[in-house]
Amino acid sequence: MAANKKLLILPGDGIGVEVMDEVRRVIDWMGKKRRVSFDIAEDKVGGAAIDAHGTPLTDEAMAKAQGVDAVLFGAVGGPKWDNLPFAQKPERGLLRLRKEMELFANLRPAIVFDALVDASTLKPEVVKGLDIMILRELTGGVYFGTPRGIETLPDGQRRGINTQVYTTNEIRRVAAVAFELARKRNNKVCSAEKANVMESGVLWREEVTRLHQESYQDVELSHMYADNCAMQLLRNPRQFDVIVTDNLFGDILSDEAAMLTGSLGMLPSASLGAADSSGRRKALYEPVHGSAPDIAGKGLANPVAALMSFAMALRYSFDMAEDADLVENAVKATLDKGIRTGDIAGPGTTDKVGTRGMGEAVLGQLTALAG
Ligand code: IPM
Ligand code: MG
Repeated sequence: MAANKKLLILPGDGIGVEVMDEVRRVIDWMGKKRRVSFDIAEDKVGGAAIDAHGTPLTDEAMAKAQGVDAVLFGAVGGPKWDNLPFAQKPERGLLRLRKEMELFANLRPAIVFDALVDASTLKPEVVKGLDIMILRELTGGVYFGTPRGIETLPDGQRRGINTQVYTTNEIRRVAAVAFELARKRNNKVCSAEKANVMESGVLWREEVTRLHQESYQDVELSHMYADNCAMQLLRNPRQFDVIVTDNLFGDILSDEAAMLTGSLGMLPSASLGAADSSGRRKALYEPVHGSAPDIAGKGLANPVAALMSFAMALRYSFDMAEDADLVENAVKATLDKGIRTGDIAGPGTTDKVGTRGMGEAVLGQLTALAG
């Protein structure tokens, strides 16, 4: 038998722990019913790692992440750690993983399931059938640019500084992913920046255009200022196919896109690095939602985003499209039956459940579908 597929699970904090429990159960199910086995390691990240080791990610955990085929990440943060110095905050654990694994391409699909069309705050006729992909640059821009910091000026005022910076290669490699993704979807890329006020935005637009000219003329390319893009996402989201944008705009636009689907609890993501000579990419999969301290520990969180993130791992890291479809279809079937967690419980709900109930229901559908 081929070498086992290696996974590192980093549940993190808050509802991260609860939703990753459900992912584990689906992994166990796969092992039993689909005869695929995974080598699973688990470690701490975020506040949990701070409490245990005094750092949001130990060097050992970082090394483990570098050595596996895919990292499954829950969520980090919580009020307990809010007042720590910046460099020690739970979020630094996640940012370190992204940076050191060079996960520059963050895929955040926003799909509106028919069963949930009423869960969105937008009118059904605006969001029905929505299927868009936000591709967020994840290792550059203002998140990592230097100089950065807070300094005290001679007159006693303080000044906070961050730097938005992109190079040719950073833009080209993420734009290439956007064009490749579009070719497998509806063949349209919209690139979002602020070329009207930022030099980094001018460069972004020029480099995306140049790459398009060189290698991807078959794909339809448009450009939009990021503020207009935010507005268009609410006005007519179905005009988009793939939206490619920088780290900060992507953070914001993907939260907005998530709400088109009704709940942040529905949105998965994949963060990918460059392909090596064997075609393998480093990868981390995480729900877009955070640790949700307000509902943490209560068994109320929606595990769908985490389960769909695992489906993305099957698809992108393990070349298991059939199994990925199976997980996605099991989620869809569960929603069709009206089984919902609180965040998506609207019209059509027949059974309002918690995290475990939702996980159970998806497992039941998996068994039914794989039957
Ligand atoms: C996200 C989150 C993170 C980000 C936080 C937790 C650091 O909001 O993944 O969208 O800002 O990138
Ligand atoms: Mg965010």
